[in-house]
Amino acid sequence: MNPGVFMPIPAQVPGAAAARFAPALLRWYHRHGRHDLPWQQDRTLYRVWVSEIMLQQTQVATVIPYYARFMTRFPAVADLAAGTLDEVLHHWSGLGYYARARNLHRAARMIIDAHGGAVPREFEALHALPGIGRSTAAAILSLALDQRQPILDGNVRRVLARWAGVEGFPGAQSVERELWRVSEAVTPQRDSADFTQAIMDLGATLCIRSPPRCADCPVAADCVALATDRTDVLPGARPARARPSRDVVWLVLRRGESLLLAQRPPSGLWGGLWGFPEFESPAAARAAARARGAGPRGRRLAPITHAFTHFTLRITPLLHELPAAGAAETVMESDGETWYNSRRPAQLGLATPVAALVGTLAAPEVARRRR
Ligand code: ADE
Repeated sequence: MNPGVFMPIPAQVPGAAAARFAPALLRWYHRHGRHDLPWQQDRTLYRVWVSEIMLQQTQVATVIPYYARFMTRFPAVADLAAGTLDEVLHHWSGLGYYARARNLHRAARMIIDAHGGAVPREFEALHALPGIGRSTAAAILSLALDQRQPILDGNVRRVLARWAGVEGFPGAQSVERELWRVSEAVTPQRDSADFTQAIMDLGATLCIRSPPRCADCPVAADCVALATDRTDVLPGARPARARPSRDVVWLVLRRGESLLLAQRPPSGLWGGLWGFPEFESPAAARAAARARGAGPRGRRLAPITHAFTHFTLRITPLLHELPAAGAAETVMESDGETWYNSRRPAQLGLATPVAALVGTLAAPEVARRRR
């Protein structure tokens, strides 16, 4: 099933505006649209399919010579299926996104093996072939067979997000669903092939990212983004990626008023600064504490989150107490380690969250709370 077909008209697209969309767009298309593209001549399912795959990530002007060579070598689906993948890739060479060519070749063989050599005319069967997404299947059937099929490729998302004032990043599922409803609402019952080419052309020539040419746009009168001066913020931008996070454990070994600090390796995070010995797990930190004579029980302190540009460090400090050194006892320090007393601080470079934690531990209420 093509889910778009049964969707209700969305609340924010007034029926009257939706009804005006196609006639205005088609009038514009007949005067200003592209009518002489190679795949618009002799429109077979096969020729339109190949063109739509080539056009997925590539501009029309780039595609034209590739398309011509491809069609000369592989004029029908049987020729494509009989060709070797190497030869198909050779004809694709320079267009990029080679998965498109591999899928095209694989789909051609499936058409020969499972569809009697005819490119499927039904949405579901076509959509099921490798490399043919929902919008591509709809565009092929619409352009080649004049079937009524709403489409939603990248350009059309921009057109409809602006025209209907749909907020949010179009790649988000809920936003995409809403845009499919808008596409369904504006797609006319007739003139499907022309409408599909027209809305693609509008997105490619006038309703461009920046700056849109609203003065020439046939559907500007009902455009929500234009009316509310939001063509520059619609469609919504992709949200910033959630930063990946890394979890570490800091061993906070305290002896009286002193804390054990270690110098970090010269390169990497906080390179050369001093900090608490760092471990990947609480177990590893506890083992290190025991090796230094601490009892088995440590205390987890409040977790610390530190944001770097590319990731977030989540730190669990684990406090272990050591018996205070006797007056006669000297505390051994090895290279790259020091017992740091915040009342008599040595001149060391401390990473920001280390300095903050040292400060917190020096506060009397933390120092007193022992276990
Ligand atoms: N981009 C994707 N399909 C297209 C088509 N049929 N015409 C122009 N640009 C396109």
